[in-house]
Amino acid sequence: MIEVHQLCKNYGERKAITNLNFKIEKGDVVGFLGPNGAGKSTTMKIITGFMAPSSGEARVSGYDVFENPIEVKRRIGYLPETPPLYTDMKVQDYLRFVAELKQVDKNKVAAYVDRALEKTQLTSVRNRLIQNLSKGFKQRVGIAQALVSDPEILIMDEPTVGLDPKQVAEIRDLIKELRGEHTIILSTHILPEVQAVCNKVIIIHQGQIVAQDSIEGLEKMNKGSLVVSVKTRNASSLAESLKSFDGVVSVEKISDMHFKVQLKEQDELIEKIASEVIRSGAGLLELLPTRANLEDVFLKLTYGQGS
Ligand SMILES: Nc1ncnc2c1ncn2[C@@H]1O[C@H](COP(=O)(O)OP(=O)(O)O)[C@@H](O)[C@H]1O
Ligand SMILES: [Mg+2]
Repeated sequence: MIEVHQLCKNYGERKAITNLNFKIEKGDVVGFLGPNGAGKSTTMKIITGFMAPSSGEARVSGYDVFENPIEVKRRIGYLPETPPLYTDMKVQDYLRFVAELKQVDKNKVAAYVDRALEKTQLTSVRNRLIQNLSKGFKQRVGIAQALVSDPEILIMDEPTVGLDPKQVAEIRDLIKELRGEHTIILSTHILPEVQAVCNKVIIIHQGQIVAQDSIEGLEKMNKGSLVVSVKTRNASSLAESLKSFDGVVSVEKISDMHFKVQLKEQDELIEKIASEVIRSGAGLLELLPTRANLEDVFLKLTYGQGS
């Protein structure tokens, strides 16, 4: 449905994205995850046909975004970083205007506007001026304008940025509801957002893709992802002996009484560690296995650290 091949964009000397390659299938809900400045918005602007790449190509439903921007825009609803709202218009008038701009069939405009209002729970404010709405509602109007032509693909750039926690939860619920009806790409620098709504994640860092996978796949990818925290009365010699265990990736000493053992993903290894700790007579106080989560993977991939 969306195919990106060796995509690059430079702003003058600055390389914003370098050699991006990915494919998005129909029905996917993909999160572009990355810190600020990673290149998320740039990538979205190119896919939506709002900006030309410096090199490489992007195709939407087979159409090259650069050569056929009209065909591409017809298939995409786009919520940019700053929603293009005409704040002196009433909500429904604005949506009607966008629907007409998007060349929705004349006799379907009213129904499409109603549907977008319903989906985004804006029906009760349809006759209000956009400028008088709260930030959360304005953001919903932004999503409604992306939805109003009932596009196959919905692309949303940081849809929850700047909202309060309640509004964030509402927007996430809305996105969840839209799953299955549209192929969705959203960008975010907040990890729980991807975990909450997406089935795939593309992690972008300094203009490059550092990982792309299903959410579960990415969690598994972190090899030796099982970390056991061990607290004993005296850990000094124990830490050394555990290092030689088959399946132990590393032993990190936190203090004389506390160390962390990183293991290959094998539950029976936990049992062996426990037996060894007891056998050594180190005085077991606590043994706590923790699995790596996506946050660890994200931090490791984008900042070269993790736990
Ligand atoms: N119009 C522009 N002119 C110059 N540099 C830009 C412009 N837009 C973005 N950049 C730079 O390109 C990089 C990627 O930006 P952007 O795609 O906005 O990242 P993100 O959306 O992930 O925060 C950043 O280093 C940013 O400063
Ligand atoms: Mg951005």
